[in-house]
Amino acid sequence: MASLSSACAAAAEGMAQDSGLPFVEAGSLEEALSNVVGQYLLVYDDGGVALYPVSKKEGGAVRVDFLQGKSDHRRKHGGGSGQLIAKAVGLKTGIRPSVFDATAGLGQDAFVLATLGCTVLAAERSPVVYALLNDGLRRARLQAQPDQMDILDRITLLSANAVSWLNAQTPAVADVIYLDPMFPAREKSSLVKKEMRYFKNVVGADADSSELLTAALAKAKYRVVVKRPRLAPCIDGAQRTLAIEGKSSRYDIYALKSMDELKGKDS
Ligand SMILES: C[S@@+](CC[C@H](N)C(=O)[O-])C[C@H]1O[C@@H](n2cnc3c(N)ncnc32)[C@H](O)[C@@H]1O
Repeated sequence: MASLSSACAAAAEGMAQDSGLPFVEAGSLEEALSNVVGQYLLVYDDGGVALYPVSKKEGGAVRVDFLQGKSDHRRKHGGGSGQLIAKAVGLKTGIRPSVFDATAGLGQDAFVLATLGCTVLAAERSPVVYALLNDGLRRARLQAQPDQMDILDRITLLSANAVSWLNAQTPAVADVIYLDPMFPAREKSSLVKKEMRYFKNVVGADADSSELLTAALAKAKYRVVVKRPRLAPCIDGAQRTLAIEGKSSRYDIYALKSMDELKGKDS
């Protein structure tokens, strides 16, 4: 991790210590990148935390931004409760389930769920990804309009491995547990989104997703929802109840109990 200005050096150093990453202070991005041993550098500059590939050929920086760009566009024009993810978590008139998002990543799904009115507790185990998301939430909270702040207030982020965290809890931790583990990408690397290419190198393939599904099934109240690429096999270890298919993704639903009793309750 590198900080590029003295204004953020203390925060960046604290963040590096928390996540066990080596820390350098540098005068410029070029200087910082030229000293990196490895493929990626987490940079803290005046715009917050960003992940840079050391090789420029790989692409540009990844940063979390909830108030502009894709997340904001989806908030305003994304189809609301008609979206497949809304159907998958059981959103209906009068039903806004609480969600434990066990694979927070860059928080895009958590933000969509919170926009739809769900309270979301999200866990991320990669210190690099956690640092990006935590900083994205922090910056968003500094500049949010009241309606955006309501959404952000529904999201709580944990730095944790969801398998061990879930195994240590008494049920139920949430109405719905949502899983979106990394899946080895089949498409040509140029077609895979930049974020997913970087993630593949930084966090790997989440080979323990069947342990995560088992832990989730023991601690969800109504259902577990697993997001997969449309043609990917189901996670081993349990039989899904139904699947909702989109153009490129699929949501496998493992139902434990009818959600009708939630009607009218504020979760
Ligand atoms: C495909 S990404 C999730 C993307 C996320 N749904 C979004 O909308 O941005 C998978 C993420 O889950 C995290 N992850 C996988 N297994 C986990 C676990 N057991 N506990 C916590 N995080 C986990 C990985 O580190 C990775 O950041």
